[in-house]
Amino acid sequence: MSELRDGFGSKFGALAALAGSAIGLGNIWKFPYEAGNNGGGAFLLIYIAFIVFLGIPVMMSEFALGRATQQNVFGTFKILAPKTKWYLFSILAIAASIAIMAFYGTVSGWTMEYVWLSLKDSFAGKNEQELALLFHEFIADPYRTIAWQMGFLFISGLIVVAGIKNGIERSTKIMMPVLFIIIILLGIRACTLPGSGEGLKFLFYPKFSDVTANSILSAMGQAFFSLSLGSGVLLTYGSYVSKRNNLTQMSMQVIAADTAIAILAGVAILPAVFAFNIDPASGPGLVFMTLPRIFQSLPFGQLWAISFFILLTFAALTSAISLIEVIVAYLVEERKMSRAYATVLTVGCIAILGILATLSFGELKHVTIFGLTFFDLFDFLSGKIILPIGGILICYFTGWYWDQRILKNELSNNGTIRLRFFKLYIFILRYLAPLLIFIIFLGSLGII
Ligand code: PHE
Repeated sequence: MSELRDGFGSKFGALAALAGSAIGLGNIWKFPYEAGNNGGGAFLLIYIAFIVFLGIPVMMSEFALGRATQQNVFGTFKILAPKTKWYLFSILAIAASIAIMAFYGTVSGWTMEYVWLSLKDSFAGKNEQELALLFHEFIADPYRTIAWQMGFLFISGLIVVAGIKNGIERSTKIMMPVLFIIIILLGIRACTLPGSGEGLKFLFYPKFSDVTANSILSAMGQAFFSLSLGSGVLLTYGSYVSKRNNLTQMSMQVIAADTAIAILAGVAILPAVFAFNIDPASGPGLVFMTLPRIFQSLPFGQLWAISFFILLTFAALTSAISLIEVIVAYLVEERKMSRAYATVLTVGCIAILGILATLSFGELKHVTIFGLTFFDLFDFLSGKIILPIGGILICYFTGWYWDQRILKNELSNNGTIRLRFFKLYIFILRYLAPLLIFIIFLGSLGII
C-alpha cells in the first residue's frame, strides 16, 4: 500500500469494517419484512441460494479488483481497462450509493427517534394498535423525521471525514461486536416467548406456493443489498485491505456473519409477530411496530428497547459510512478535493434526495413515479436494478475481460494461498451468475 494512502490497520479492523458495511438495516429492518412479504421459509431458501451462487463470487471479485489497484472505483477501471468505457462503472456506483443513502437515511432517522422514545419509555403500556398508530403518526411528521435524518447524515459524515483508520475502522471495531451480542440475546429471548413456534415455522418451513417471479427478484435484490454487492462499496473497501490478508477467507467470513445476523433478526422478530398477531406482511414498519411489543413483555424491557435501537443505529451507521466512502474516495482521489469538502458535498446531495424519501410517508405520500413513492423508488432502483446490473458488470469484467493470471495472483496472494475452487469460480462468473441475474430480470418484467 502506498505510504500516502490511508487503509485498514489490522485484519480485525478490516473485517469489522467490511462486515459493518454488509450488516445493516438490510439484515435487521429489511430481511424480516421481505421474508414476511414473500412466504417466509421459501424466501429464506432462495435468498441463501443467491448468496452462495452470486454473493460469494461477486464479493471476491470486487475485493480482488479494489485490492489489485488500491484505487477508488473510477481509478480501478482506469488502470485495469485503459482507453475503454469501463470507468463509467463509477457512475453506476455513485448512483447506487446516492439512491441507497436517500432512503437509508430515512429509516436510520426513524431508528434514532426510537432510541429517544425508548429512553422516554414511551412504549410502556401500549398495545399493538397503539404502537402501530405511534409509528404511523411519527413517520408522517415532516419535522421530526427530517431532523433525525439530518442528524444521522451528520454523524455519518463526521466518521467519514475522520478517515479510514481513525474514523471507519475505529468506530466499527467497537460497534460490530456489541451488535452481535445484543442480537443473539434478543433472538434467544424471542424463541422462548409463548407462541413463538409459529414464527419459527414461518421462517424455516418453505411454502413454495407463495413464491412468485417477484419474490425471486426480491430475494435477489435482498442478497445484493444485504451483502453490499454491485455498488462499488466492496471494491472501495477492498482497496484498503492489506496485501497480506486472504480475500477468499474474508469474503466467507463477511458472508457468514451477514447471513447469521439476518437469520437471527428473523428469529428475533417473526416469532413475536405471530405471538402478538401482527401481520408479517406489514412492510417497512414491521420492526418498529413489533419489537416494542416484545420489549414490554420482558423484564427490564426498557433496557432491551434502548439497546436494540442503539444497535440498529450502529448497524445503519457502519453501512452508511461505506456508501458515503465510495463517493468520497472518488472525489478525493480523482477530483482532488479535500476529504472534508468531498464529504460535505456528498452528504449534501444525499440529504436533498433523502428529504423526498422521508416525506414520502407524509406530505409527498401521493406523489408517485411509475406508481412508486420516492422512498419506494429509491429502494426499487437501487436493490432491484442498479446493484444487479453492477453485479453483472463485475462478473463480466472479472470473468472475461481481466487477465485471469492477475486475478488469480490477487486472490492467492501471489501463489501463497491455495485456491481450490478457482475454475468453478470462473465458471460462475462467466456463465451462471450473469445468466441468473438476467433471467430474473426478464421474469420480473413479465417478459418470460
Ligand atoms: N448492506 C447494507 C445493509 O444491509 C446496505 C448497503 C448496500 C451498504 C449497498 C452498502 C452498499 O444494510
